[in-house]
Amino acid sequence: MEFNEWVCEVLSRTEVALSVALPSVDIEPMQLHQAMRYAVLGGGKRVRPMLCHAAGQALDAPGQLRDTASCAIELIHVYSLVHDDLPLMDNDNIRHDKPAVHIQYDEVMGLLVGDALQSQAFIVLASDVIDVYRRTALMRILASATGSLGMAGGQAIDLASVGMQLSQTQLEMMHRMKTGALLRAAVKMGATCGDKMSAEIEAGLDAYAKAVGLAFQIVDDILDVTANSTLLGKTAGKDAANNKPTYVSVIGLQASLKLVAQLRCDAYTALAPLGERGIRLAQIADMVVKRVN
Ligand code: IPE
Ligand code: IPE
Ligand code: MG
Ligand code: MG
Ligand code: MG
Repeated sequence: MEFNEWVCEVLSRTEVALSVALPSVDIEPMQLHQAMRYAVLGGGKRVRPMLCHAAGQALDAPGQLRDTASCAIELIHVYSLVHDDLPLMDNDNIRHDKPAVHIQYDEVMGLLVGDALQSQAFIVLASDVIDVYRRTALMRILASATGSLGMAGGQAIDLASVGMQLSQTQLEMMHRMKTGALLRAAVKMGATCGDKMSAEIEAGLDAYAKAVGLAFQIVDDILDVTANSTLLGKTAGKDAANNKPTYVSVIGLQASLKLVAQLRCDAYTALAPLGERGIRLAQIADMVVKRVN
């Protein structure tokens, strides 16, 4: 199967899994359920589900397990975006080419949609289609990546860093936490859905995910400067406007682009133990990097 076809398949099965996972708009509180669906459905690149499916397929994980894990990760991701856009965080009005949740509804809804999506992610993972061992492992991986040592911690550093000069080391840590942690979890969760892996493959997958996770946020920083809002489906130039330290502001555009290319090489190297089975993961690394090429 061509990579494009594979991507289309992941996109459509992710949309189905998410739609099934979300409470119906006919159930009270109807506005909250409507706003959750508004936030989640019909937008986003679904990079985390792609990583989860690709890692899972490399280890022969059943489709139903991959769908469940991908769906949970994407719910967490969308929750993070809805909160990220709130006026008390990045104050962004546009997300996925449409008004952000707090604009379309109100700030209370923005807060509660995020809260409810986070819970929904764990409701999804608690499904008994997953054996108890994997269920617990998946929950632990996702909760760790989401909490104070992962995404939420990274967001705390991000917001505490407004207007500050960060060193490259500090910036890297922030990016690895706020964005890298969830991308890393996506790979690990996909792999956990599959056959038992050797220590070598496990280490390779993790090194791959760390490289792609960091590259992904550097690319996001670059695009904030080089792309326009129509292309991004969110407000371009927002990092400079908000006085955020980013890779572009700390090391410059050219060095950022070079680093992204280097991280792609690192990702490829890390996939070596998987041989042919790493093909989709390699293609995802290319896709991430090509956004700025
Ligand atoms: C945006 O993530 C926020 C970051 C963590 C960089 P994505 O670029 O994956 O967001 P969507 O879901 O595809 O819009
Ligand atoms: C968002 O980073 C990271 C999380 C939501 C965890 P950004 O603030 O750079 O994301 P965008 O640019 O608004 O999508
Ligand atoms: Mg932010
Ligand atoms: Mg933001
Ligand atoms: Mg950004």
